[in-house]
Amino acid sequence: MEKLVVALPKGRIMYEAIEMLRECGFSLPKNGDLSRKLIIEDESAQMTFILAKPSDVPIYVEYGAADLGVVGKDVLLEENRDVYELLDLKIAACRLCVAGMPNTKYRMIPRIATKFSRVASDYFRQQGKQVEIIKLNGSIEIAPLIGLADCIVDIVSTGRTLKENGLVELEEIMPITSRLIANRMSYRMKHSEITHIVDTLEKTITNNNG
Ligand code: PRP
Repeated sequence: MEKLVVALPKGRIMYEAIEMLRECGFSLPKNGDLSRKLIIEDESAQMTFILAKPSDVPIYVEYGAADLGVVGKDVLLEENRDVYELLDLKIAACRLCVAGMPNTKYRMIPRIATKFSRVASDYFRQQGKQVEIIKLNGSIEIAPLIGLADCIVDIVSTGRTLKENGLVELEEIMPITSRLIANRMSYRMKHSEITHIVDTLEKTITNNNG
């Protein structure tokens, strides 16, 4: 059996992904024990898990440093890497939205702050709207509050971040869940190992979602 390397995204998705992999029988430590560790070996399953920054997961997978990865559909679309999308894991469900102040006033050419500049550009282009995209790297909700942008494109999960900053959801762009992705070469060369994991995950997804 060939060893597989799986890239997991640190943060929001990680907890649900680890829970799911534990349900599949992989011996990953419980969340509390993971605060600093970046590489976890599961010798019995011949698997290595690496904990990466979410936007780096598709990069590890495209270059083959990881055979498989777990990543949000938002990041997958934004990174636009040459990888296979194998499965919708149906975890970490949230939505990509346009959000802003309740009485948003727009500039002639609206300014949109976002981490997802590619996805946001595509969205407004498809709507036939001309906008100026300002790429930020986090805490996007600040932008409309201090006048950097008219509105934002960001992930909304519980809605708490918007609420606590006096912002509202203006439009939903798309629902988001996490996906299993594979390196193209690994998918060919380690096909039976990967198929086995996909089958196991599919059973867990069905169990969890009825
Ligand atoms: C995301 C998103 C929002 C928040 C939404 O941030 O950018 O800030 O979660 O979640 P909520 O609706 O449950 O409040 P994330 O924590 O992924 O990281 P970020 O600060 O890098 O954007």
